[in-house]
Amino acid sequence: MSFAMKKIGVFTSGGDSPGMNACIRAVVRTAHHHDVEVVGILEGYKGILNNQFRELKNYDVAGIINRGGTILRSSRCPEFLEPEYRKRAFMNLQKEGIEGLIAIGGNGTFTGALVFEKEFGIPTIGVPGTIDNDLYGTDYTIGFDTACNTVVQALDAIRDTATSHNRLFIVEVMGRDAGHIAVNSCIAGGAEAVLLPEEEKDLPELMQYLNEKRKKKIFSSIIVVAEGDQVGGAVQLNNIIKEKYPHYDSRVTILGHVQRGGSPTYLDRMLASRLGMSSVEALLNGERNQAVGLVNGEVVLSSFKDSITKSKNIHSDLLKMSHILVA
Ligand code: F6P
Repeated sequence: MSFAMKKIGVFTSGGDSPGMNACIRAVVRTAHHHDVEVVGILEGYKGILNNQFRELKNYDVAGIINRGGTILRSSRCPEFLEPEYRKRAFMNLQKEGIEGLIAIGGNGTFTGALVFEKEFGIPTIGVPGTIDNDLYGTDYTIGFDTACNTVVQALDAIRDTATSHNRLFIVEVMGRDAGHIAVNSCIAGGAEAVLLPEEEKDLPELMQYLNEKRKKKIFSSIIVVAEGDQVGGAVQLNNIIKEKYPHYDSRVTILGHVQRGGSPTYLDRMLASRLGMSSVEALLNGERNQAVGLVNGEVVLSSFKDSITKSKNIHSDLLKMSHILVA
């Protein structure tokens, strides 16, 4: 089948996530399969502004499926919010002969693509790449599974030392203002409690629960705290505990950017490959202004507007599990 488009660009933008490389690889290989050239744009929107273009052949993406991070590098680009910079970006793309774009990233990436497409008509398909799993239109985002595995491994390690010292650990995980990483990893990591942005927690009730456990001679406890939780993060929670419940020997671990790196899991490699391939096929078939996602095992397209404005709530079953199996 021959397509009207002959040259497309691909870039990664915003916070990187494990599996982005697998996605770039799938984009490049699918495009070449359809005789379409691919230009890798370095450092996201910043690279479009600064003409950071480089041709990507199939062999350029060999040996990267197992690597975390992104070979195209990434950035957050506040200049792209300003119209004169977007105009410059458009002119650069035209000069380079790029007719369509694949944008791998999160909310900010899709917001940029939506405005850009409206102003200059460059067809763009988004691929959800963020560890936060906070995008509407897909059950999972690329990188989320790897990040949860990293957190669960950390919780297992923390449990060892927590038990040895009868300590209470407060472990802060990423997710920006969403609690997907926190709720999933607290269940899989067997934590005693979780604090989420999506739920108000009664702290005295939680501490009473931990006290009861202590009476039953279960001394170590782990509280997983989402960075955007309502108390204000792990340090803040620890300050409250130190003041009101001084009998606890508590420690804080902020997992931070460890969650963003590492070799992607099987699930992330497969998701990235599937969505990368589908994004190119959607673009070549004339779709635009939409993001690919996987819902109930099927690839679907959602408008950028929906992915940006609609929120993806934590599934009620997961919340229920966290109430019954955690605290
Ligand atoms: O969106 C991914 C994410 O890792 C969030 O979980 C976190 O709040 C944020 O990015 C951190 O951003 P930065 O790497 O710019 O500090």
